Amino acid sequence: MSTDLPDVSGLSIGILGGTGDQGKGLARRFALAGHTVLIGSRSEERAREAAEAVGARARGADNATVAAEADIVIVAVPWDGHKATLESLRAELAGKIVVDCVNPLGFDKQGAYALPVEEGSAAQQAAAVLPDSRVVAAFHHVSAVLLLDPEVDEVELDVLVLGDDREATDTVQALAGRIAGVRGVYGGRLRNAHQVEALTANLISVNRRYKAHAGLRLTDV
Ligand SMILES: NC(=O)c1ccc[n+]([C@@H]2O[C@H](COP(=O)([O-])OP(=O)(O)OC[C@H]3O[C@@H](n4cnc5c(N)ncnc54)[C@H](OP(=O)(O)O)[C@@H]3O)[C@@H](O)[C@H]2O)c1
Repeated sequence: MSTDLPDVSGLSIGILGGTGDQGKGLARRFALAGHTVLIGSRSEERAREAAEAVGARARGADNATVAAEADIVIVAVPWDGHKATLESLRAELAGKIVVDCVNPLGFDKQGAYALPVEEGSAAQQAAAVLPDSRVVAAFHHVSAVLLLDPEVDEVELDVLVLGDDREATDTVQALAGRIAGVRGVYGGRLRNAHQVEALTANLISVNRRYKAHAGLRLTDV
């Protein structure tokens, strides 16, 4: 695989919904890699508490401040709040790379399943709501449990990175590679984000059957 990716070491990372497990887990790993991390929340107080838990490189603020100040912004809110959160931050997110890791899933007694999404996928919904941002889809399959576990030095998986803007997907591939053990691999255009998001339901089934935190490794790249 070509390793000709940009240097992203100086970029600050903002996380909307950064008080949840996924946001805190990503924040922890990016902070360990030396990034300044801005943890966003609907509540400034919850954001500050989460930032304290993550450590010295993290700062907490409301989602709008984080969206405005961070170089790259990751969306880690639940599917329920996805559209409204992004609609409210359109101005702050204009011109930025916005990384969507949201999996639109339902859960019933048979387990997890992919929900239908009018726009095709959460990532395409983000692109529709944020026409002035550079939306990239990534980090759907990474386990928050592993990201948060201090015993786990390397998170062994490939992160599929999807988007329609080559420079933006290269940047996010490089960002994924800042997490020890992770490799960012280009996974196609945003119109193919649906099945990447939906595949998370299969991984959840794997995890339940085998009591695991399964990730993907691609062969021959
Ligand atoms: N957990 C995982 O292993 C994992 C892995 C890959 C991808 N993801 C995706 O990452 C996203 C976050 O997952 P999570 O497990 O961290 O979820 P979560 O804990 O349920 O939610 C994350 C944060 O979002 C905020 N939030 C909750 N409801 C909201 C709403 N209606 N509008 C705006 N913000 C809201 C909350 O922060 P405040 O109350 O502080 O605002 C909450 O702490 C999900 O979309 C999930 O599909 C998760």
